[in-house]
Amino acid sequence: MSNWFETTDGIWTKVWGTLGRGVADAKHPARRPTFATVSPDGWPEARTVVLRTADHEGAEVVAHTDLHSDKIKSLQANPRAALHIWDAKQDLQIRLQTEVRITSGHDTRALWDKIPDHAQQSYGVTPPPGTPINMALDYAKKPDPATFAVLTCKVMHIDAVHLGADHRRVSFSRVSHWKGQWLSP
Ligand SMILES: Cc1cc2nc3c(=O)[nH]c(=O)nc-3n(C[C@H](O)[C@H](O)[C@H](O)COP(=O)(O)O)c2cc1C
Repeated sequence: MSNWFETTDGIWTKVWGTLGRGVADAKHPARRPTFATVSPDGWPEARTVVLRTADHEGAEVVAHTDLHSDKIKSLQANPRAALHIWDAKQDLQIRLQTEVRITSGHDTRALWDKIPDHAQQSYGVTPPPGTPINMALDYAKKPDPATFAVLTCKVMHIDAVHLGADHRRVSFSRVSHWKGQWLSP
């Protein structure tokens, strides 16, 4: 039997299995991908987010954020994001290129009601995220469903690298119906 990294199908299954583990397991490295966007004035920007869902069938992943955070302005200007994960135990780097849909307000109210109180604290702060303040703690957390936003990231492209004794790299694209293509690493 071959190892998972020896076939493009094996890597595809491992990629989505890894994303699924990230959603289910708070300690898994895929739990906290780096989420990269481009600012309205063209600067690359990256930050950690929590992976909330990973839908293998539809090839979508979801993160939650504050509607007033800078990443929303970036996504409004350019609704694309890259996500990056390095799973050292599996020697696997996963990079996703995605198109992002922002949902908030009435459309996310039912989901907001299911979020535990301590987690709601992450959405709603006065003054809004990124505002200059005089002292480090000159802000107040005010959980507010109106500031809760869901980022639904439609995966368009996946680049996976396995760094075993041999290095293997494969790309998968939505336009190619996710048929794996080996690449020189
Ligand atoms: C471990 C960790 C998890 C985080 N999870 C999220 C998250 O799920 N959503 C989010 O908007 N910010 C999250 N943050 C904060 C972001 O990394 C970032 O600091 C904040 O969203 C402001 O980013 P922005 O100004 O680029 O919008 C997390 C930070 C850390 C360190």
